[in-house]
Amino acid sequence: MNYIGSKYSILDYIDYVVEDFCKLKKKNIIFCDIFSGTNIVGKYFKRKGYNIISNDILYFSYIIAKAVIENNEELTFNELKEEGIEPFSYLNNLNGFKGFIYNNYANGGTKDKEIVRQFFSDENALKIDAIRLKIEEWKKLNKINSKEYDYLIASLVEASDKVANTASVYEAFLKKLKGSASKKMELKPLDIIIYPNKTFKAYNKDANVLIKEIKGDILYLDPPYNTRKYDTNYHMLETIALYDNPIIKGKAGIRVDTSKKSKYCIKKEALNALEDLIKNANFKYILLSYNDEGIISIEDIKKVMSKYGRYKRYEKRHKRYKSDKKRDYAKEYTIEYIHCLKK
Ligand SMILES: C[S@@+](CC[C@H](N)C(=O)[O-])C[C@H]1O[C@@H](n2cnc3c(N)ncnc32)[C@H](O)[C@@H]1O
Repeated sequence: MNYIGSKYSILDYIDYVVEDFCKLKKKNIIFCDIFSGTNIVGKYFKRKGYNIISNDILYFSYIIAKAVIENNEELTFNELKEEGIEPFSYLNNLNGFKGFIYNNYANGGTKDKEIVRQFFSDENALKIDAIRLKIEEWKKLNKINSKEYDYLIASLVEASDKVANTASVYEAFLKKLKGSASKKMELKPLDIIIYPNKTFKAYNKDANVLIKEIKGDILYLDPPYNTRKYDTNYHMLETIALYDNPIIKGKAGIRVDTSKKSKYCIKKEALNALEDLIKNANFKYILLSYNDEGIISIEDIKKVMSKYGRYKRYEKRHKRYKSDKKRDYAKEYTIEYIHCLKK
């Protein structure tokens, strides 16, 4: 998933910093990825054999965490298979349905309305609705268990994102259907990572609330670092995951619900929120990813973290996030900092 702030391209660097700074010798390490987004960081450290706590305020991210972090076993889909149903090929071959996604985000469903939108091709929007409803029906009829349910929804979120007719985020759609959006959506099974004898847990809370309820060894912080809000940028994935018929507004049809606004996107509040998190953290090591263009200054981060223990900063030049390149920036690179604290 092409996610703002994804750490996909710097996983090795994060790993290097974890090893170099924490130098943990113990076997049963608890690693918490408290702003997990795509869960790429949690997946990396799950593969490495750490126990993982994953959390994000957005529901679609939580569902992905349930599927690929918390779930630690092959899923059998026994009930369906007893009826001769192979879930992925069955869902991929469903007839389309005119549901919430088609009626609000496809050309066919909106062309006679005040605001015409084209976030998906008609065919894919109809498919998303049909698949989402079938997953819900299977759950109600106990044909799938809750792990299978989360896994199918996470797969649908990922598949929908691949055929979205956007430049990358959902605050706007493209006028013409782009190549990838014209392709037929295909639901594909996500990779399941199995690591025996470890524990994995996913949460869907405000990080500053959750921090008072958990403890562990390494706390990895990757909060939003500017005013680009994840709840509005990714409203579509949230609605596909929740499928809650939300009230929506504006050209992009974003969710009106403001309960997921992040303090980390507000200049006046971000530093206090960060300090609160660090103060309440019951973790020996805290690692914070924050680049040099964030709304909290490097000096402020250093000042706050140093209050609670030994501080050290690592830095690496990092190629700019794709959609940012379009802006009129002189720099091709940003500096990715990892601010480290031993409490
Ligand atoms: C920079 S992204 C994380 C990217 C992630 N590390 C990855 O590689 O995909 C920041 C994430 O923080 C989440 N978030 C923002 N405010 C939050 C809060 N108060 N509590 C929990 N999650 C929050 C956003 O939904 C977003 O997914």
